[in-house]
Amino acid sequence: MGGLWVGVMLLLLFAATQFSVLWTIVSMGKWAEKSKEDQVSVWSLALIISFGILVFLLCLVRALANFYFSLRASQKLHDRMTWAVLRAKIVFFDTNPLGRILNRFSADVGINDDVLPQSLHDVAFSVFLVLGGVATAVTVLPFTLLAVPFLFIIFAWVRKIFLTTSRELKRLEGTTRSTIFEMLSESLSGIATIRSNNSQEYFRHKFELAHDAHTRAFFAFIGAMRWMGFRMDCIVFILLTIASFLAVLFHDQGWFNVDPAVLGLALTLLLQLASAFQWSIRVSAELVTNMVSVERVSAFGDLPSEAALVTEEDINDKAWPTEGQIKVNSVTVRYRPSLPPSLSGVSFKIKSGQKVGVVGRTGSGKSTMIQALFRILEVEEGGIEVDDVDISMLGLHKIRTEMAVIPQFPILFSGCSVRDNLDPFGEYNDDAIKRALSDVQMIESIKDLPHD
Ligand SMILES: Nc1ncnc2c1ncn2[C@@H]1O[C@H](COP(=O)(O)OP(=O)(O)OP(=O)(O)O)[C@@H](O)[C@H]1O
Ligand SMILES: [Mg+2]
Repeated sequence: MGGLWVGVMLLLLFAATQFSVLWTIVSMGKWAEKSKEDQVSVWSLALIISFGILVFLLCLVRALANFYFSLRASQKLHDRMTWAVLRAKIVFFDTNPLGRILNRFSADVGINDDVLPQSLHDVAFSVFLVLGGVATAVTVLPFTLLAVPFLFIIFAWVRKIFLTTSRELKRLEGTTRSTIFEMLSESLSGIATIRSNNSQEYFRHKFELAHDAHTRAFFAFIGAMRWMGFRMDCIVFILLTIASFLAVLFHDQGWFNVDPAVLGLALTLLLQLASAFQWSIRVSAELVTNMVSVERVSAFGDLPSEAALVTEEDINDKAWPTEGQIKVNSVTVRYRPSLPPSLSGVSFKIKSGQKVGVVGRTGSGKSTMIQALFRILEVEEGGIEVDDVDISMLGLHKIRTEMAVIPQFPILFSGCSVRDNLDPFGEYNDDAIKRALSDVQMIESIKDLPHD
């Protein structure tokens, strides 16, 4: 809801700025028509200067507000995605390759931070420029209004065709470009093989074909731009012709009194419209492409998360666990609903202080049991009790901080010291860390490591 208000506020700001620009130009036109004495009067000059200052201030506020709010929105999306990914279920990491996750956090967030604020600004700016031009022409010569809906229909039609085509051509251009890069790096790394087989000619030909494919796509894209540009120019020149002829006709016949200063402004704005129209279409096409990044970051922000980190039960059971007795009652666990269960109807009991070894062939479910114990996987049926407390009632923080596991595949955080790896939250003093290292006979090995 906050976003809606910010959007409305930004639109109003853009509208106000465009209006003040037009108003300033009209006032300057009127000022130019005044007598010499009136032109240099303090009052006239002060009015013009204050209009100039107003336009400057509004442009500044408009740009600052646009960039501030777009960056804030991007930051919010990023934070929501970070939290959602950190809290995501294990299924998410099983089904999403690391490259995809990294891409969202780098390329997509990059586009939201760097490219999108500028894109939004350009779109709003060009749309108001076009609207301002058309509105001025219509105000000066209300009769041009007859032509405007017709021209807008053509505009919307051209825009629709161009957007669909340019999006596909841009995609094609991107894919054919990556073929060139792939071929280049592959040929360079395999240069010895290519030369020893005397296949330079063959690879040169393949490389040229890749270039041709890219040039074809790129040329088609430029062609599409020209196609759109020509039609936009036609629309604007038709409007310009109608406005000019009607102005002369109406003024001549005395049907409508046209102020020459305002008419001049309207014609200048209409001339500008030719490029503004093209620009608005191009930036709106870019905006649509860039908005895909917002969609992708938002999609990761809505990931289903694991169970609550803290529950009422944790507070009631402050001392849990005291004995370390584990009871597993007909537990069934599945990695994903579409997969067969990895554990089905498993029951056993481990008494407090007992040391138990679980033996089984690979894939029999030993690690899965540990994952169920830490609720990395939630049990589908049955339950696990530790010291007679059903662990499904506890918060995940409580379970995962009160129990410890040494996993099959150890993980070291790179770029961190041994100390940070052992005690990431800085909860223990050096003596405790050293004692732990000496207990596992690692104290001698780490002495040779560089200290920071
Ligand atoms: N991430 C996963 N997604 C889907 N299925 C999985 C996943 N991890 C394990 N499984 C399946 O669950 C079953 C139990 O696997 P688990 O890793 O618990 O076996 P394990 O007894 O620990 O084997 P190992 O001795 O090789 O460590 C296997 O059939 C395995 O294919
Ligand atoms: Mg295992």
